[in-house]
Amino acid sequence: MNKNKKTVPMIMERKHSSKKIVALTAYDYSFARLLDTTDLDIILVGDSLAMVSLGHETTLPVTMDEMIIHVRSVNRGSHNALLVADMPFMSYQVSDEQAITNAGRFIQEAGAQAVKVEGGARMAGRIKALTDADIPVMGHIGLTPQSVNKLGGYRVQGKNYKDARQIKQDARKLQEAGVFSIVLEGIPDDLAGEITQEVRVPTIGIGAGVQCNGQILVLHDLLGLGMDSSPKFVKQYANLGDEVQRAVGNYIQEVRGEYFPDEEHSYKSKTHKLKSVSDAH
Ligand code: KIV
Repeated sequence: MNKNKKTVPMIMERKHSSKKIVALTAYDYSFARLLDTTDLDIILVGDSLAMVSLGHETTLPVTMDEMIIHVRSVNRGSHNALLVADMPFMSYQVSDEQAITNAGRFIQEAGAQAVKVEGGARMAGRIKALTDADIPVMGHIGLTPQSVNKLGGYRVQGKNYKDARQIKQDARKLQEAGVFSIVLEGIPDDLAGEITQEVRVPTIGIGAGVQCNGQILVLHDLLGLGMDSSPKFVKQYANLGDEVQRAVGNYIQEVRGEYFPDEEHSYKSKTHKLKSVSDAH
């Protein structure tokens, strides 16, 4: 393994460090290469791929085979950050055997170092089966997008006492099941702070406030490449969407105006010159 490659134990040690864990999603080789030039800790090939890159309305339709293609391509471009593959909907719900087989594919066929699984206490047994098979698991609780139909939408979770208590219990159960970190999505910041204080593994927040041990965002949201409106927790650090439109607009104008390709971007034929010389004799 590359000596700069971040590992699961390195991420776990950050629980005892003041240096926050910084994570982003990526879905392809070209963005993975760019992220690889930064000091990012974790790249997650999220099932958000379904919405961001494949144009689905939810994360539910993306399949194992589609995810494998994207994890492989990210792996080819990424040599430093820990590579985590998201288990898509229905790739782990059926049985321990199904979950181990699919998580194993991410490790064996696609080069992931760990997988992420959505769900709390109910999923703890399944997660234990994975960690017993030496497959590192990142948990994901709070707002779990694969439960969108059950939740009736993407709403902040844990706002009342009963729900908050359940989410805390989910975190404890995941810790017992052996996860190496827990994504806390869409929960109040004080609840995320309490969970972070209580569990021994790092928490990674998305819409869960500043007290988590790290943060994750969807890359396209951060870069301003998202198509629709973003949730409140998204901070846009660039507006590449506007840049893309500007660049493509200029290209269209220059092609139509015959300013492109110019001399600098065209080849000259030597044989053509020779032919003209011999023609002259
Ligand atoms: O699929 C995803 O991108 C995620 C993260 C944003 C946590 O699950």
